[in-house]
Amino acid sequence: MIFALKALITGISGFVGSHMAEYLLAEGVDVVGTIRQRSRMDHIAHIQKDIHLVECELRDPLSVEQLMEKERPDYVFHLAAQSFVPTSWNSPIDTIHNNVVGQIHLFEAIRRFNLPTKVQIACSSEEYGEVHPHEVPIREENPIRPLSPYAVSKVAQDYLGYQYYRSYGIPVVRTRTFNHTGPRRGENFVTSNFAKQIAEIEKGLRPPVIHVGNLEAKRDFTDVRDVVRAYWLALEKGTPGECYNIASGSCVTIDEMLQLLLSLSSVNVTVEQDPARMRPSDVEILLGDASKFMAHTGWKPEVPFEQTMQDLLDYWRAK
Ligand code: GDD
Repeated sequence: MIFALKALITGISGFVGSHMAEYLLAEGVDVVGTIRQRSRMDHIAHIQKDIHLVECELRDPLSVEQLMEKERPDYVFHLAAQSFVPTSWNSPIDTIHNNVVGQIHLFEAIRRFNLPTKVQIACSSEEYGEVHPHEVPIREENPIRPLSPYAVSKVAQDYLGYQYYRSYGIPVVRTRTFNHTGPRRGENFVTSNFAKQIAEIEKGLRPPVIHVGNLEAKRDFTDVRDVVRAYWLALEKGTPGECYNIASGSCVTIDEMLQLLLSLSSVNVTVEQDPARMRPSDVEILLGDASKFMAHTGWKPEVPFEQTMQDLLDYWRAK
């Protein structure tokens, strides 16, 4: 009898976690996911019968030990995180605790039970932070100059991944993913926030005014469905201990992204800057060079940005 590979997804009910689960199910993988009591289940309701859900609080070492001792997964996709940059200014301690301590518990449980588990950790392009004009497209060797508590939490996760590999040989692959979006993206994030506002204006639910923050920032967007394929390849073909940029290799200003969304709709709107949406320090440009990952795994993004934004807008229209 052939046993399917078992993968554990932390944060399976979240945006990326739900797409990761769909991808793994299609690959014939046995999928286990962690949820918390307050997790919203709407992103995974359609696949709930095909996956195994375990209640686990990553901040609680006993909860994580019980999970890992029982499940003993071949792969872990560690996607659970406080992932919204502005929240990290309001709750820096919570962001660091959730993101950094949760991951240490996971690594320690793997160590304690001597598991052969391979782990992908969701690090971030935010780690690069302040990027100088001559440094784009950004490569993995670029200096790390984080500009938010969230970015610092991701730097810590990233280097803990390196350290646990070097100290104990735990096969950790560190993916530094640039911005990603698509259906189910949380409404706080800029692509979803603007798409939701447009869908609500179309339905007459709000006046034709789009509220925005910093439209000058430049971001490199990849479709979430390309990103979860990258995470799978990271564990199938990536080298333990390494870090890899996951990026499309081109960027747009937030204003260009807004104009693209508006071109997919017939509404006439005015654009208003909301000071509450401005950040204490915003990352000006994130444009990634993913050639190292492409060379190691054969990955390349497939979904065009226009398609991603159309799907995102349609997602909000159907809500
Ligand atoms: N959220 C938001 N809302 N952002 C806005 C708005 C707005 O109304 N208007 C302009 N922006 C600008 C932000 O200032 C930022 O420059 C950019 O849009 C993107 O903001 P977010 O979508 O919140 O994402 P992010 O770039 O801060 O972080 C995302 O990408 C990281 C990888 O680079 C998140 O997904 C992180 O979790 C991820 O690590």
